[in-house]
Amino acid sequence: MESNGVRIDSLRAREVLDARGFPTIEVDVTTSGGALGRAQAPSGLSRAAAEAFELRDARSERHNGHGVQSAVRNVTRHVAPLLEKQDASNQAAIDAALMELDGTTKKSDLGGNTLLAVSIAVAKAVAAARGVPLYRALPGSDSPSLPLPMFNLISGGTHADNNLDFQEFMILPLAAPTFSDAVRVGAEVYQSLKSILKESGTSTAVGDTGGFAPNLRANVHALELLVAAIERAGLTPGRDVGLALDAAATTLYHHANRGYEFTYSPRRTYSSAELVASYEDWVRQFPIVSIEDGLAEDDWDGWQLLSERLGSRVQLVGDDLFATRASTLRRGVERGVANAVLIKLNQVGTLTEALETMHVARSNGYATIVSGRAGETEDDFIADLAVATRAPQIKAGAPCRGERVTKYNRLLRIEEELGRSAEYAGRAGFSVGR
Ligand code: PGA
Ligand code: ZN
Repeated sequence: MESNGVRIDSLRAREVLDARGFPTIEVDVTTSGGALGRAQAPSGLSRAAAEAFELRDARSERHNGHGVQSAVRNVTRHVAPLLEKQDASNQAAIDAALMELDGTTKKSDLGGNTLLAVSIAVAKAVAAARGVPLYRALPGSDSPSLPLPMFNLISGGTHADNNLDFQEFMILPLAAPTFSDAVRVGAEVYQSLKSILKESGTSTAVGDTGGFAPNLRANVHALELLVAAIERAGLTPGRDVGLALDAAATTLYHHANRGYEFTYSPRRTYSSAELVASYEDWVRQFPIVSIEDGLAEDDWDGWQLLSERLGSRVQLVGDDLFATRASTLRRGVERGVANAVLIKLNQVGTLTEALETMHVARSNGYATIVSGRAGETEDDFIADLAVATRAPQIKAGAPCRGERVTKYNRLLRIEEELGRSAEYAGRAGFSVGR
């Protein structure tokens, strides 16, 4: 066990595959005492314009231009000489050095994926060197707390090849008293939904985040199916399990038509005000407790209207809107826009910057939801991050498929480790409208 300070001995990087079969960068940080921290960068599909740049070998024929050999080279040639022999335990100093080395606002020189994999590998190496669980070694980890999980059950939008316009139709097991109970509820409702789809001869193929990806007659049919699946699992929609949407509305907005184009169900173009009115309708008809990216990332007036109409009753989550950036979140706070922020590490590029955004959220009463990406890996770092930062919620996709359940399973192990003292956000993690 290494105590005072943890010295970095070496960094290595390699190209591995993510859960979709695309390459991604993996970084190993080894300390002078021989401890290892290993991290893999995730990748988004519906990306915000303000996200950190993802470096890929666009001009190469390998992996159709998706290779990450240039990111790997950046670690070997530039990052390793900078960080070797440095103290890993000062995460803020490490991340500041990475940002300075890159020198651009969007990490477009070395790549946000490069820097994030290094940043997380350093944090993991410190925990390994100290011989403590990762959630105890991360900055701000004095009183761990397990998050309420948001499970994606039905996929659409850019995450699936079906006819649903919205990206994610999710459930929140609000009444479950413990994290493990919430996982059981999520999995049971997932399986009842699968039976319902099978019985009606509907496809049970899944989308990128593990949610079922059926063709349905309308977007609202997905909400009806969730209600039916919750009831079939013996639970009461609303009381036991809430519904949540990720509209990913930036992908629906067409600047030429100055409106939100629903291609399928029903096919029509909505103005911001019409879309807000539809959300109000759906919230009346269904027990929807959370709406993410209900409007596009640059539609601040629309967001303001949505926040005025629903912000006191429904959790309104800014994903593309804030892109995990503290400065943009501050702008949201000033304008009274949204009341929760999605935290995606690779949107911003280093752990320290994400922690700062979470700090801004907490100081202003915004909920933080630690989130995975469509292109996930077997890396379960976000589970420990959610626990260490007492994030009230986590969103890692369906309770199905390896790259998804590795996060939920890690949380189950943490719950066991914390034993009777395990604190769980549960329904309290979901405070809007109560
Ligand atoms: P993404 O999807 O990783 O494709 O951005 C997740 C989300 O929008 O929440
Ligand atoms: Zn989203």
